[in-house]
Amino acid sequence: MPQPRVFVTRRLPQEALDLLAAETELEVWPGDEHPPRDVLLSRARGCDAMLTTIEDRIDEELLAAGKGRLKVVANCAVGFDNVDLQSATQHGIAASNTPQVLTKTTADLAFALILAVARRVVEGDRDVRAGQWNHWRPFAYAGPDVHGSTLSILGMGQIGLEVAKRAFGFEMAVYYYDPIRRPEAERQYGVRFCHDLPSALKVADFVSVHTPLTPETRHMIGQKELRLMKPTAILVNTSRGPVVDNTALYEALRDGIIAGAGLDVTEPEPIPADHPLLSLSNVVITPHIGSASLATRTAMALLAARNILARLKGEDMPTCLNPEVLNR
Ligand code: GLV
Repeated sequence: MPQPRVFVTRRLPQEALDLLAAETELEVWPGDEHPPRDVLLSRARGCDAMLTTIEDRIDEELLAAGKGRLKVVANCAVGFDNVDLQSATQHGIAASNTPQVLTKTTADLAFALILAVARRVVEGDRDVRAGQWNHWRPFAYAGPDVHGSTLSILGMGQIGLEVAKRAFGFEMAVYYYDPIRRPEAERQYGVRFCHDLPSALKVADFVSVHTPLTPETRHMIGQKELRLMKPTAILVNTSRGPVVDNTALYEALRDGIIAGAGLDVTEPEPIPADHPLLSLSNVVITPHIGSASLATRTAMALLAARNILARLKGEDMPTCLNPEVLNR
């Protein structure tokens, strides 16, 4: 019997590739760039499984091309806004993501951005390298304290909760806004629920965004919302770029409506080098590295590979997004 064919759209940690190679006919797209669209479409037609990343658009056209043969698309990310889940389900194709394994690593980065923007770490580093640090001055690079301040978390999922736990180490008061109230987290960790987004924005010194990108959360933070924040407040986004309206954010930062921003995600991505946001010194932008520790990226790839193997063998997938297709 021929082995099932699996296409992996990027070079991933070897452990995951080895796992797949032991039981499948594996093709890995070489290099670091994502495969062109025609390659993706041809592999969707000719493979039993695809292991994809956030840069691969898994839409109706691709899933329709895969109908009949393609059994599973395993996205190597917790976010799956690049996957048309409804189409996948319609075509009987299972889809999976990589939750849990990246939760703490992503929360670490959110906290790194909170600290970097507040304490002006990147600005200082830039000046030191440029030979512009000539004297110690009492007010140079003086930002707000992180410890003892107030944090609002937008989206109290697993990552939001891990950010809250880190914040308690810094003696912060933690509020959250989420369409679903989390009484358990309130009891266990003392996070405080805000009944609406404006209350969460008004109260905070730091706002950290942890919502998935959906039609409802696209541009959830725009001009109106930014104007509700304190002029001293700092916004951090490690979820998806389009949750924040970047044009409104640029204007708010330029005009002192808020004090700073730390962004691991932008719209578009990658952000063009001449984007106005990059002209501001009160913004730190990292290149979508929320989950980028070696251990976590390996764990994500392994989880994606395990989802593929489970589906191909008719076993329970560890993190299937549309389990309704499994028994068809
Ligand atoms: C990365 O952005 C992810 O969703 O895992």
